[in-house]
Amino acid sequence: MELVFLGGSLRQGSLNRRLMGYLAREVSGRGHSTHVFQGEDLRIPLYEDGLPVPDSVNAMAVALRASQGAMIVSPEYNAGIPGHLKNLLDWLSTQQPNPWTGLPVLLAAASPGAFGGSRGMLSWRASLANVGAWAAPASITVPRADVNLAEDGTPKEDRAIQEIRRALDAFLAGAERMGRGKP
Ligand SMILES: Cc1cc2nc3c(=O)[nH]c(=O)nc-3n(C[C@H](O)[C@H](O)[C@H](O)COP(=O)(O)O)c2cc1C
Repeated sequence: MELVFLGGSLRQGSLNRRLMGYLAREVSGRGHSTHVFQGEDLRIPLYEDGLPVPDSVNAMAVALRASQGAMIVSPEYNAGIPGHLKNLLDWLSTQQPNPWTGLPVLLAAASPGAFGGSRGMLSWRASLANVGAWAAPASITVPRADVNLAEDGTPKEDRAIQEIRRALDAFLAGAERMGRGKP
C-alpha cells in the first residue's frame, strides 16, 4: 500500500516528528511505501480564498489521493489541533477532488504531558469527519515523550512498542480491507 505521513511541529526537535519517523520505519518495514510530509512542508500561508495553492499542498493532495491511508502525528496545543496542522487540513479540504474523501486515517501523538496528546484527538476526529475521512477507532499516544522516546523516535518501553505495533497492524489491516484507490 501507499501510506502518507503528515505531522510534527515546525521546530527541529519535534517529539512528534521523531515518533512519526519511527512509525514510518515500522510501516516501510512491513513492505509498504511511505510518503512523509513534515517540517518545512508544513510551513504554508494561512488559508485565504484566492491565494495560489502552495506547492506542498499540491504535493500532499496528490499523495493523499493516490494513497490507501494516512497517519497524522500531531502535537496537542491547548487540548486541540495546533494551528499549522489545522491550516494544512483546511487547505487540503479546498482542493478538488477532496483528497480526504474516504481516506482511512490513524491518529498518533506524543507529548511531554501525562495524557500523551489524546485530548487533541477529539478535535482531529471532529474535523476529519467533517472532511469525509475515516479516522480509525484506535490511536497511538506517547505520554512523557521527552523521556519515553529515544533520539530516533523509538519508544524506550517494550510495552509501548507492543501497543504501537498492535495499533499499526490493526490500522493497516483495516486500510487494506477498505482497498481505497486500488486499480
Ligand atoms: C501553545 C502550546 C500549547 C500546548 N498545549 C498542550 C496541551 O494542551 N497538552 C499537552 O499535552 N501539551 C501541550 N503543549 C506542550 C506540547 O505537547 C509540547 O510542546 C510538545 O513537545 C509539542 O510537540 P513537538 O515536540 O512535536 O513540537 C503545548 C505547547 C504549546 C506551545
